[in-house]
Amino acid sequence: MRSWITSTVVTDLLATLYADAAKIDPLARKAAMEANETGEQEADYYKAMRNAYVPVPREFGNLLYGLARSVKAKVVVEFGTSFGISTIFLASAIRDNGAGKLVTTEFVPEKAEQAKKNLAAAGLEDWVEFRIGNALETLKADLSGQVDLVLLDGAKGLYLDVLQLLEPHLRPGAIIASDNTDHKSLEAFLGYLRQPENGYTSSAILTTGSEVSRPHEISIRN
Ligand SMILES: C[S@@+](CC[C@H](N)C(=O)[O-])C[C@H]1O[C@@H](n2cnc3c(N)ncnc32)[C@H](O)[C@@H]1O
Repeated sequence: MRSWITSTVVTDLLATLYADAAKIDPLARKAAMEANETGEQEADYYKAMRNAYVPVPREFGNLLYGLARSVKAKVVVEFGTSFGISTIFLASAIRDNGAGKLVTTEFVPEKAEQAKKNLAAAGLEDWVEFRIGNALETLKADLSGQVDLVLLDGAKGLYLDVLQLLEPHLRPGAIIASDNTDHKSLEAFLGYLRQPENGYTSSAILTTGSEVSRPHEISIRN
């Protein structure tokens, strides 16, 4: 049986979105260079980057798809939708699993609106619930069932807070996939995941391929 992730509707759309990101992101990065990425000012950085995709690399997207398939994920939570590239990988997995929902959250309303259109173009709108606003608010309530997989790809300074907000919902064996883990503000977050008494088995991984190597962390809830 052919999977949705390899259907031409998805592969063509991902090719278009990655090509658009390759044009737009370098310009947005230049504009945001002055903004500070830490503390309270992180929101300003993302406002300056409001037109940028900053997507997961394809290789990590494929890994996310594979992880969600292999744990037969039915409830997935994504922190940081942007224009929906990672959302397409994860929602394809849920569709291919046959049931479930991806709850994704995005701070910038215009990005979330475009992401909705992209997910509709990918034939995946029925598998995704969009929550617009700060993840610390939007993910506070209404998470149905136990969470099987979490993607952390929003403001780096909030990874630990978002993880701890979701912890009561994580089922044993749930996967936490974190992107861009070489970011300077993630030390405490990585330290937390790697302390066995906090309940995770956690490993750093690198993806290589279509772009320079990128570090991620894959953590399993014990
Ligand atoms: C790296 S991008 C996400 C890329 C996306 N996962 C993909 O692969 O296409 C990070 C996104 O997180 C959003 N974001 C940042 N802080 C947030 C917050 N507190 N709540 C929700 N979204 C946030 C930003 O607006 C930005 O669009």
